[in-house]
Amino acid sequence: MTERPRSDARPRIVLTSAVHKRFVERLTEHGDVVVVASTGEPSRASLVAACAGATALLVVGGEAIDEAVLAAAGPQLRVIANIAVGYDNVDVDAASARGVVVTNTPGVLTDDTADMAMALILATARRVVEGDRLIRRREPWRPAPGFMLGRSVSGAELGIVGFGRIGQAVARRARGFGMRVRYTSRSAAPAATEMELDVTRCSLEQILEGADFVSLHCPLTEETRHLIGAAQLAQMKPSGILINTARGPVVDERALAEALRDGVIAGAGLDVFEHEPAVDTRLLACESAVLVPHLGSATAGTRIAMAELAIDNILSVLVGKDPLTPVG
Ligand code: NAP
Ligand code: GLV
Repeated sequence: MTERPRSDARPRIVLTSAVHKRFVERLTEHGDVVVVASTGEPSRASLVAACAGATALLVVGGEAIDEAVLAAAGPQLRVIANIAVGYDNVDVDAASARGVVVTNTPGVLTDDTADMAMALILATARRVVEGDRLIRRREPWRPAPGFMLGRSVSGAELGIVGFGRIGQAVARRARGFGMRVRYTSRSAAPAATEMELDVTRCSLEQILEGADFVSLHCPLTEETRHLIGAAQLAQMKPSGILINTARGPVVDERALAEALRDGVIAGAGLDVFEHEPAVDTRLLACESAVLVPHLGSATAGTRIAMAELAIDNILSVLVGKDPLTPVG
């Protein structure tokens, strides 16, 4: 039988909120596991307090990990593993300055998130959720020629903002639906990718002016915060539809709600919100907005793969190896 090191020599592994017990059991083989909030979201005070003495931090639900948390944790902290590909919730510069590795979960959630973007494109174009609501209200209806007309997806132009893993996966799906695709990104995709997906790169302005659907797939950074505001929405076609499965603050939600109310654009499909879990009340009242509670990667298989990857990252660092998927 392998002899376990004494409990006080074991690393303290802090989980910001609850995960399935199989993951806790796996981590418990390597350290003393502390779960900050066994149900729901941890309070800021409980998170900061629980981090004291942590060697590893598993960030489960996008909790903010900033200088205050790092300072509370102390100098023995070695790794922050975010269970998400987006890591805008972690102050990476502050962590790096303290020699703490930050990791994320790229790749394993690409297909599911791209599926969600396509689901929102189809749902907004073909008024799926609006139709569902009409039936549930028990309103009279019949499939008359002019009843609840939507827009064709086939032949429409899709503009992708941020052409990384998920943006490219959306392009691949959109081509399957007969859409024309253009993208904007700070750097160009390899020529072979552009050729394979039959896409061309252009400016954000060209995307906004030309696209029937604008789908956001860039990370949230200081550069992309409110990338889409009133001015950009006004550049879109009045028939245009905005899809956001990236991060809420990439869009000025107040400006979007006003644009939808005033008919500046025709619709929006949103998986993410600026102040989650709050949603601008005007969006709630807007029939042409399809609202989803941040479910982009929410399938059982993908959530397991995300947790496994995050834990693999922690364990790699704890045994002195390079993390599998460091950020930066
Ligand atoms: P990724 O592979 O890193 O792709 C992001 C792309 O955005 C990169 O190609 C990057 O290219 C581009 N980009 C960065 N800054 C930009 C800017 N200012 N303007 C235009 N493009 C910019 O990341 P990913 O795996 O596709 O994930 C993308 C984002 O989706 C994540 O950061 C996360 O916030 C979000 N997400 C949401 C969900 C959900 O549940 N809704 C699930 C997964 C991911 P350049 O650097 O060349 O510009
Ligand atoms: C989810 O939002 C992610 O970034 O993985």
